[in-house]
Amino acid sequence: MNDATTKTIEPKTWSKLAENAEHAYHKAYAPYSNFQVGAAALTVSGEIVQGCNVENASYGLTVCAERNCIAQGVIQHNESEKLQFSALVVYTEQEKLTPPCGACRQVISEFFPKGAQVMAVNHLNEQQHWKIEQLLPDAFTPYDLINKT
Ligand code: THU
Repeated sequence: MNDATTKTIEPKTWSKLAENAEHAYHKAYAPYSNFQVGAAALTVSGEIVQGCNVENASYGLTVCAERNCIAQGVIQHNESEKLQFSALVVYTEQEKLTPPCGACRQVISEFFPKGAQVMAVNHLNEQQHWKIEQLLPDAFTPYDLINKT
């Protein structure tokens, strides 16, 4: 999605998002992988939503933290405005920072402008930032459906 102006996110906002993602991390339901993930996203209207990974005995039905976070944003969203997010944080307690998986990159591309950023952070406060367009270049987005026949 590429219509919204990309906002600059202040360091204190990244910290607040990281705190929210850490909070969500502690809610993760990950009894099969023991790999807990928490996410938090900022909507363009300034709200923060959280998500955690939710696994299932039928392993393939697992939903990642990022997608649950975006779903929470959809639920909270005031329908008089267009839903867009300006930042997403993924929190884990892994030494190697956790980037969004391929499926999540596609779902993120639906709702984030190309220049918005995703940050991975861990319990050591190590951080890595990516722009949406780096995570999924040439993404298939709602704009690809505009001229459908
Ligand atoms: N997982 C996420 O929640 N987000 C990611 O970006 C990577 C993977 C979850 C899915 C599964 O519950 C566990 O981490 C191990 O793959």
